[in-house]
Amino acid sequence: MSTLVAARGVRTPLPGGGVVLLRPLGPGESAPLEAVFAAMSAESRHHRYLTGLPRLPAPMLAALTDVDGRRHVAWTAVLDGRPVGLARYVLEEPGVAEIAFEVADAHHGSGIGSALVDAVTTVAAAQGVRRLRAVVQPGNRASQRLLGRVGVPLTVSGGLLEGEGRLQLLDPALVDRAAVVHLARAGAWRIHPGVVG
Ligand SMILES: CC(C)(COP(=O)(O)OP(=O)(O)OC[C@H]1O[C@@H](n2cnc3c(N)ncnc32)[C@H](O)[C@@H]1OP(=O)(O)O)[C@@H](O)C(=O)NCCC(=O)NCCS
Repeated sequence: MSTLVAARGVRTPLPGGGVVLLRPLGPGESAPLEAVFAAMSAESRHHRYLTGLPRLPAPMLAALTDVDGRRHVAWTAVLDGRPVGLARYVLEEPGVAEIAFEVADAHHGSGIGSALVDAVTTVAAAQGVRRLRAVVQPGNRASQRLLGRVGVPLTVSGGLLEGEGRLQLLDPALVDRAAVVHLARAGAWRIHPGVVG
């Protein structure tokens, strides 16, 4: 795999060509979230947040950027210098985390979501997370596929699809896992760098 650790990110080739830089989101680093949100359709926002949102309210933005490298881990994908996606997990109880992700609409289907999920599940596994949970809307096929591949089976519950399962790493790996774990352990998430890519 021609993946290199560059700056404080992991360069990851995409199946259709191009290279995306994956890196940890810094504490309070809201710019990538806002950029990706702005590039998501109403339907994608609804899929991600399970409700219609014209903008990210400040308390939600604060919660989504309250990363600490252990309880709450988020990584962003940067393409040609622009943030195009995010994935995160939040520990809900020891060894059990909820996972969530989003990619700018113009880049759906390019493999960015899968690469981000590979990065955060790699960090999760290295930090001792053994089970993953997720909640998505019925009809969210891309998320269902991705979640199924990391071990989260979904069933209908109260009008939503919910599930929990044993964390499985994607096979084959899409990211340089050693580089991802190295960055996570080196505390790269502590740095608030602005966009690197
Ligand atoms: C879910 C999401 C992050 C996937 O991102 P992506 O970059 O398009 O993902 P990838 O290109 O890596 O594709 C992931 C899988 O979804 C499939 N997929 C992608 N777009 C799809 C679509 N429109 N319909 C059905 N499947 C789709 C891909 O084929 C792939 O599955 P496979 O590898 O088993 O073939 C993206 O669709 C998104 O941002 N959706 C809105 C937010 C959301 O739903 N978040 C999840 C709730 S937490």
